[in-house]
Amino acid sequence: MTQDELKALVGQAALAHLPEGAIVGVGTGSTVNHFIDALATVKHRIKGAVSSSVRSTERLQAHGIQVFEADSVERLAVYVDGADEIDARGYMIKGGGAALTREKIVADLADRFVCIADESKLVDVLGRFPLPVEVIGMATAQLVRRFAAIGGRAVIRAGVTTDNGHPILDVFGLQIHEPLVMETEINMWPGVVTCGIFARHKASVCLLGTAAGVKTLEF
Ligand code: 5RP
Repeated sequence: MTQDELKALVGQAALAHLPEGAIVGVGTGSTVNHFIDALATVKHRIKGAVSSSVRSTERLQAHGIQVFEADSVERLAVYVDGADEIDARGYMIKGGGAALTREKIVADLADRFVCIADESKLVDVLGRFPLPVEVIGMATAQLVRRFAAIGGRAVIRAGVTTDNGHPILDVFGLQIHEPLVMETEINMWPGVVTCGIFARHKASVCLLGTAAGVKTLEF
């Protein structure tokens, strides 16, 4: 199976994790696009969605799925999103699609985070994928120095501004053995909007697309 077929497989499998009549938290990315397309086939069974990006909102609405503002919802039963990396504890790196801040906001509303990913995303130690960090522009040079001090090489993602109007730094060379500690540390640096370590908002379950089918990892 191709990587895209594995993404489609887990996008479909996520439907089994949606409570009847729910407002569903929806992430961003190519795996989530498959999930949104699958969601459209059962849209009569859900109330609508809260979206984590303009792209996902447009795709949801094109399918006729009602999109609610995150601000108008007190709680979501479930949030479904992809990952750039996930480890055996359910900790993730996200933000390859530059939607990390809104993703974390919507994930924060949810009781359960259902991660959908193809098997290439499962790693022993987070960090091979460069860590995305959304930052305030005027803090960029200082943050590049801060990352250098912990062994990371931070590079501005060319031509990208987030839905919130900020640049993204991609940080190469980090080995993230303690995701909770590093997420907390980086988030305290002035000028960091959101760091792409999802440890405080880790996956509750991962539906992993493999050649042998969907493997379910509970955390
Ligand atoms: C977007 C994300 C995505 O979930 C992550 O980049 C995975 O994307 P894809 O499903 O396209 O592999 O965090 O900000």
